[in-house]
Amino acid sequence: MEKFYITTAIYYVNDKPHIGSVSEAIAADVIARYKRLKGFDVFFTTGTDEHAQKIEERAKKEGISPQEFVDNASKNWKEIFKTFKISYNRFIRTSDKDHVEVVKHFFQKLYDKGDIYLGSYEGWYCVRDATFLKDSDLKDGKCPICGGPVQKIKEPNYFFRLSKYQIPLMKYYESHKEFLQPDFRYNEVINVIKSGLQDVSVSRRSFKFGIPVPFDNSHTVYVWFDALLNYLTSVGFLHDEEKFKKYWPADLHLIGKDITRFHGIIWPAMLMSYGLPLPKTIFAHGFWNLEGEKMSKSKGNVVNPVNFVEEFSEKAHIPLDISVDVLRYYLSREVTFGQDGNFKIDTFLSRYNSDLANDFGNLINRTVSMLYKYMNGIVTKTSMDPEAKDFLIEQQNNFFEEMDKYSFSTALERLWEAVNYLNNYIQVKAPWKLKNDKSELAKILYTLLEGIRTVSVLLTPFMPHTTEIILSSLTKSEKAKSLDWEIIEDKSKIEKLPPIFPRIEKEKINIQFKEKSGEEKEMIEYEDFAKLDLRVAKILDAEKVPKSKKLIKLTVSLGNEERTIVGGIANHYAPEELIGKKIIIIKNLKPRKLMGITSQGMLLAASNDEEFSLLGLDRDVKEGSKIS
Ligand code: MSP
Repeated sequence: MEKFYITTAIYYVNDKPHIGSVSEAIAADVIARYKRLKGFDVFFTTGTDEHAQKIEERAKKEGISPQEFVDNASKNWKEIFKTFKISYNRFIRTSDKDHVEVVKHFFQKLYDKGDIYLGSYEGWYCVRDATFLKDSDLKDGKCPICGGPVQKIKEPNYFFRLSKYQIPLMKYYESHKEFLQPDFRYNEVINVIKSGLQDVSVSRRSFKFGIPVPFDNSHTVYVWFDALLNYLTSVGFLHDEEKFKKYWPADLHLIGKDITRFHGIIWPAMLMSYGLPLPKTIFAHGFWNLEGEKMSKSKGNVVNPVNFVEEFSEKAHIPLDISVDVLRYYLSREVTFGQDGNFKIDTFLSRYNSDLANDFGNLINRTVSMLYKYMNGIVTKTSMDPEAKDFLIEQQNNFFEEMDKYSFSTALERLWEAVNYLNNYIQVKAPWKLKNDKSELAKILYTLLEGIRTVSVLLTPFMPHTTEIILSSLTKSEKAKSLDWEIIEDKSKIEKLPPIFPRIEKEKINIQFKEKSGEEKEMIEYEDFAKLDLRVAKILDAEKVPKSKKLIKLTVSLGNEERTIVGGIANHYAPEELIGKKIIIIKNLKPRKLMGITSQGMLLAASNDEEFSLLGLDRDVKEGSKIS
């Protein structure tokens, strides 16, 4: 079985996941699932980058140890990857014991070889990106990557002899055009190499939460040197020879355009220095912007992906897992992979309505309805209509061709040509006119069902949950996910599903998906404030809302009445710790349905990026009391 080793960049553990960062894990997951579908033995890794300076500061602020801090933060990333169905084989953390050993060993070996030496570093440093910068790198005196402040530092540092690898790298690039993709990134990087490479600093003295240099405890290994090595640790380097031999070199490092130089220059030079084969391909994708603007935490201009899918699931009345799949589909379909993308609520809703509800959803609904109407939901197996089958096979091949180039959007376009063909096939063949020609009717319906099955199989990498539902409604055969044809068995009963993608009225959907922090609101009159009926409420009962990660259903007392209030607080409070608390609610907010439960009012809470607290009282006051 041919192997395929794929990696994502590892995520700064203290950063909050946003649509952009999660999009990379989704793209890698799509590729991993696609390769598995094609019969590859896939190893897929992702994880967290944990040795940064900010972590020491943040942990101190929270009064916990850096290790405790990264343990919590890493769990959060893992949780998110679970929500988004990221099917990794290993979630690596740079604080993992085997990784720490790999880094020490690698550093030592390069030192012994004379490729690492002690020198002195003077220059700029960006704490956010843990990056050393030259004067010429700065943009308006700030970090060119994150736009944040930089510090001037001077200290003894260990350096890696990158300059020695300039010529070998250039030669390698020239004979391996596929090494860095897309082409325009290849050209960018080869030009940097041609313009000359300087040795790079690979140790720091000023912070301790990192991996110590093995022969000099006063230094910590530079976080990028440490992080890049995760790709070796993940497949057993030093610890599992057989596994390492099987999977290394990586077939694909998937990364964002901002970290191309680390991966395209420093990483291969490190591997050359050690004497290991280089990864086959590094693919640098573009960035997701938000409604035309760069996503930036400081501007509050980011989308929290979990909030987004939860909110969409509630508003579109679809289960959370399907909402996740819709987002996965949108991110894959909307952008030419490699280019920047623009996340827009309007195009998101249009894709949902047109591609999923209208085209694919309708095809399934119409076909299954006809099967029930004319054949009591029971399949008569025939051979497929040869013309239709030929067309579908051709589209399948086109789909594979595009997927092999990581052109997800075009691959999906090809797949939708098959969906549209099948919709049109219904119109042209008009099964409703064939009630008396049972054998022709059976053939048309069987062709449609197999068409839906094969399209669903190709869609599994993008929409793993939804396609599972569709496929298991079509056949219980073990071969349901097979790329072969004519799998659905004779006399099997097709399950009738409620519409998977109910159409939504775009105008009625208002998704508040931006995380605005510290946003200024306009001034209001006292009369505006006085419209609010704020009350003290006592929590009598609390329970998690099934199928929602965020929502808790509360029963509260206002003295003379009880009410149900649903609040998005499950990430911050366990239901049992809420019972008995007195909180503040808005009593006269129009009732609103959340996940099928009517919320009669809203609770108030204070929050920022890191903290969350329900509003309470500093003295005991009877429930029902007014707040003014
Ligand atoms: N820790 C380093 C990577 C070390 S890999 C040996 C890092 N982490 S990161 O959390 O800042 O970024 C992780 C990945 O997310 C990177 O590949 C980055 O390019 C990607 N993205 C960050 N913002 C993004 C968008 N707005 N859009 C798409 N991808 C984005 O860099």
